[in-house]
Parts: sequence; C-alpha cells; structure tokens
Amino acid sequence: MIVETGSAVETEQLASQVREKLSPGDVLVLTGDLGAGKTTFTRGLARAMGIDPNVVSSPTFTLINIYPGTPALIHVDFYRIPDGGDIFFEELDDALNGDAIVVIEWGDRFLDQLREMVQGKLFIGRFRVTGEEIREIVIEEDSHH
Ligand SMILES: Nc1ncnc2c1ncn2[C@@H]1O[C@H](COP(=O)(O)OP(=O)(O)O)[C@@H](O)[C@H]1O
Ligand SMILES: [Mg+2]
Repeated sequence: MIVETGSAVETEQLASQVREKLSPGDVLVLTGDLGAGKTTFTRGLARAMGIDPNVVSSPTFTLINIYPGTPALIHVDFYRIPDGGDIFFEELDDALNGDAIVVIEWGDRFLDQLREMVQGKLFIGRFRVTGEEIREIVIEEDSHH
C-alpha cells in the first residue's frame, strides 16, 4: 500500500490498519530518515495492540524494547550498529523466531541478514518526508524473502 499522511495522528492511524495484516511472528522493517515517522508509526501499532503508546520510544541505545501484550510488540533499532557490524544478539534471535510482532527501525541496513534470520513474514515500510507534516509511506511484503 502507498499512503500519504498529513499528521503524526494519521500515521498512527495507518499503523492500526497495518496491524490487521500482521500476525504473531511477523517482522516489519521500517526505513526512512530521522524524523520520518518510524517511531510514531510504532506508537500507533502499540496502541492498536492494546499496549500503552506512551512507553514507546526509539530503542536507539537499548537496541531492543519488549512491550508485553498478546501478542507482545518487540521494537528494535539498528541505527547505532556500525556498517558491517554484527546484528546477531540472542534477544533478537529469540524475537525473530518467537510469536511477537517485531518492528525494526533502520532494519534495511541489514536486510540480507534479516532475510536469512526471519522465518515468519517480512514486511518493509518505507517512510519519506514530502512536506513539513506530510509523509509518503509505502508498506509491502518483502519480495526477496
Ligand atoms: N505525517 C506525519 N507522520 C509522522 N510523524 C509526523 C508527521 N508529521 C509530522 N510528524 C512529526 O515528525 C516526527 C517524527 O518523529 P519519529 O516518529 O521519532 O521519526 P523517526 O522514528 O523516523 O526518526 C515527530 O515529531 C512527529 O510529530
Ligand atoms: Mg525512531
């Protein structure tokens, strides 16, 4: 799907539509510049999953945040992992092969490795800033998976 949102609230609402397409075990990679709306979208996904959206912030330093729920939402951020670095860490391996819904900000930086590690469906959400409050968001299932 390709959608243009005109506010952060609209991007959160888009996430609740996307929630309907996701099953436990699925992984959603989010790409786009800083400020493009990846964390805002994740907040909307949390809300749609009955998780308090206020607890959602970019796990830039922690790498991984786990928000309990049924299913749980696991929020990962590869921003600080250096190019060519190793994304293998045990919590991520568990997350990718468990029954949570997993969102990975900057996941495109290690897409080939994710394609090997993910056993469920892999989706990619591309965010582009096209105006002060306008974001063009393309979400599709990964065709190379
Ligand atoms: N249409 C929109 N969708 C998402 N965020 C928007 C939109 N318009 C303005 N914003 C603002 O842009 C910023 C997006 O930040 P954030 O979600 O943290 O981005 P990222 O995680 O991609 O770095 C927020 O301050 C948000 O309020
Ligand atoms: Mg972010």
